[in-house]
Amino acid sequence: MARRRTLVSTSILDCDLSDLARESLRAFRAGSDRLHLDVMDGHFVPNISFGPTVIKRLRRIGRQPFDAHLMISEPGRYMDQFIDAGCDSITFHVEVEEPIEPTLLKIRMAGRQAGLALRPATPLAALEPYRELLDIVMVMTVEPGFGGQSFMKDAAAKILPAHELFRDRAPELSAGQVHVDGGVSRQSAEMCGGLGAEVLVVGSTLWKEGVDIAREMRLIKALADEGYENGPARGRAAVPHSEWVTFATLPRSIGKCLLDAMEAGGIPMIQLRADRAAGSAGPREYELLIPASWEVAAIERFGRAREQALAAAEAGRGAVAGARTERGETA
Ligand code: DX5
Ligand code: ZN
Repeated sequence: MARRRTLVSTSILDCDLSDLARESLRAFRAGSDRLHLDVMDGHFVPNISFGPTVIKRLRRIGRQPFDAHLMISEPGRYMDQFIDAGCDSITFHVEVEEPIEPTLLKIRMAGRQAGLALRPATPLAALEPYRELLDIVMVMTVEPGFGGQSFMKDAAAKILPAHELFRDRAPELSAGQVHVDGGVSRQSAEMCGGLGAEVLVVGSTLWKEGVDIAREMRLIKALADEGYENGPARGRAAVPHSEWVTFATLPRSIGKCLLDAMEAGGIPMIQLRADRAAGSAGPREYELLIPASWEVAAIERFGRAREQALAAAEAGRGAVAGARTERGETA
């Protein structure tokens, strides 16, 4: 099983903005590592969102990491306010028409992480002069301005080489992180992970009606980690699959044996915590997922092992239910 590596920063642009605090806490409870706050001024981008005052109020939810993404023409003019609002990292665009270095220095002097973002058409070379001042490089994979757009693969090609900007860092500098922003979903997560992205900004795909945010986030992280394991980490191309299917849902101990055997057999696997049915007893169950393209081969080789595992799990559930009945509990 791939170790957890990729972080998610949830963009709240498309959440229920009438209850920002509740929605932000919902994202953190669902496993978000950070919060991504999209600030738009109606000038740098053709949309207006919210500003430092809103972020400062939202800061009351707790100490969770806040990433500000400023899509504004004059970041220098407002930087004190974003620092005062309590942002942990502040990223603005390299395309702004004002001096960039003093603003990056100001962010760093305030003890916050400093980042520069790139529109899809802007080359990485634009960041060269600032590499020593950057903690974050934000590769945009949509045109900034709106959530819910489609992921631009061409722009994503910058993710891997962006890491070059963090090579041979002075020891007093952070290791540096590449954030990918725009159109990230379970369809594009594996590619982002495969290109080595440390932080995925995820917005609209989490806020759609009926989506279980926690599950979606686990899936996105697992896919990204899977991509990383098969990507630059081993120099091999990522397994070409965008769809995963459930092979079995089992208690952890039983599922672990099957997972280990299948992984040893070369089958890519993801283990996700299954949703617990209300009132259900017994140990927490886990879903073992495999790429749809592997399903036939997996059933051929591990179909019997799956049957045995499912039977063992069923026997275990029966024992738990029996014990509850004896104690007079209702299911
Ligand atoms: C776009 C914003 C993104 C966006 C992410 O201008 O910078 O952060 O809200 O949302 P999705 O995931 O919907 O593209
Ligand atoms: Zn953003």
